[in-house]
Amino acid sequence: MRLLRLSPVTRAPALAPRSAVRAALAMAALALACAACDGPQSTLSPAGISAARIAALWWWMAGGALLIWALVVGLALYAARAHPEPGDERAARRLILYGGAVIPTVVLAALLSYGLALMPELTEPGPEGGVRIHVQGEEFWWRVVYDLQEPAGTVALSANEIRLPAGERVELTLTSNDVIHSFWIPSVAGKMDMIPGRTTRLGIEATDTGTYRGTCAEFCGEAHALMSFPVVVMEPDAFRGWVRARRAPARDPVEPIARRGRELFELLGCGACHRVGGTRAGGPVGPDLTHVGSRLTLGAGVLPNTVSGFERWIAATDEVKPGVHMPAFGMLPAEDLRALATYLEGLR
Ligand code: CUA
Repeated sequence: MRLLRLSPVTRAPALAPRSAVRAALAMAALALACAACDGPQSTLSPAGISAARIAALWWWMAGGALLIWALVVGLALYAARAHPEPGDERAARRLILYGGAVIPTVVLAALLSYGLALMPELTEPGPEGGVRIHVQGEEFWWRVVYDLQEPAGTVALSANEIRLPAGERVELTLTSNDVIHSFWIPSVAGKMDMIPGRTTRLGIEATDTGTYRGTCAEFCGEAHALMSFPVVVMEPDAFRGWVRARRAPARDPVEPIARRGRELFELLGCGACHRVGGTRAGGPVGPDLTHVGSRLTLGAGVLPNTVSGFERWIAATDEVKPGVHMPAFGMLPAEDLRALATYLEGLR
C-alpha cells in the first residue's frame, strides 16, 4: 500500500541501540508491574464471578488496544521508512476511511455490546430466601445488617466489615444516609453507587475463601480515602455460624479493668451514639459495637483492632480520621482510656 508523503520533520531517526535497550527495559518494567496486579484489592486477581467477567472484559480491551497500537505504530514506521515518497491519494483516502472511521466504529460497537451484555448479570438479584446483606454508607463508615432470612425478621447488626459465603449468590441492598458513596469490592464484583433516598442492588457471588479489601469509590468528603473495609469470604456453614453468633448480646466483662471500662462507657454517654446489644447502650447513630472486638480493623480500615488501636481511636479520633463525626476523648486520663479500650476490645 502506498501512502501520502510525510513531511521530513516527522521522519523519526533510526532507533539507536541505546534506545532499543531502554525500550526493552520499559517492557520488562511493564511486565513486572503487571505481575504485581495481585493482592486483596485487585480487579485482575478475581475471587468472584462478576469480578472474573470484568477482568475478562479488561483483558480483551487491553489486548485490543495493544493490537491497534502495534498496527498504528507499524503503519507509521512503514510510511516514514519504507515508503517515504509520495503515495496514491485514493489509497490514502481509503486508509483514512477504514482505519479512522469503519474499524474504530466496529471495534467500539463490539466492546459496547460485550460490556452491556454483562450488566444484567452483574445486578441480578440473589435467590429467593437467600442471604441478604444491607449496607448503608455513612460519613465515613459502613453500616452492615445481615439477614439470613431464617427465621424471617432476625438480623445481625455489624459495621465496617463484610463477610460473605463462598459459592453463594448474595443480594446486597445499598443505601446512603448522607452523600453519595460507592460500594466496591474489586476482587469480588463491580462497584455500585449508594444514593441518598434510593436503594440500589448488587448481586454478588464470591468464589474463593480468603480476606479481601473493599473501598468507597466515590469522593464523599474529607475522609473518603479512609473509608475501606475488610471482606472475609467464608465457607457457607462457617458464615452462617458467624452471623448467628453476631445476633447474640454482648458478653459481660469479667476482668476488673474491663468492668471499669463498661462503667466509663455508660458515664461518658457513649451509648447515646453506639449500641451494645444486651446493655442499656442503644444509640443508633454510630457503628454497632456489640461484637466490635471481633472485627479485623477499627475506624473502617484505619487502625488495627487492638487495645492500643482503641486507645488511639478514642483519644485522637479526628487526627486518625479528619472529618469524622465522633468527638475525640483526648481529655481522658491514661488509665480510663486503657479501661475503655480493654472493655471494647473484649466485645468479641
Ligand atoms: Cu464514602 Cu467516598
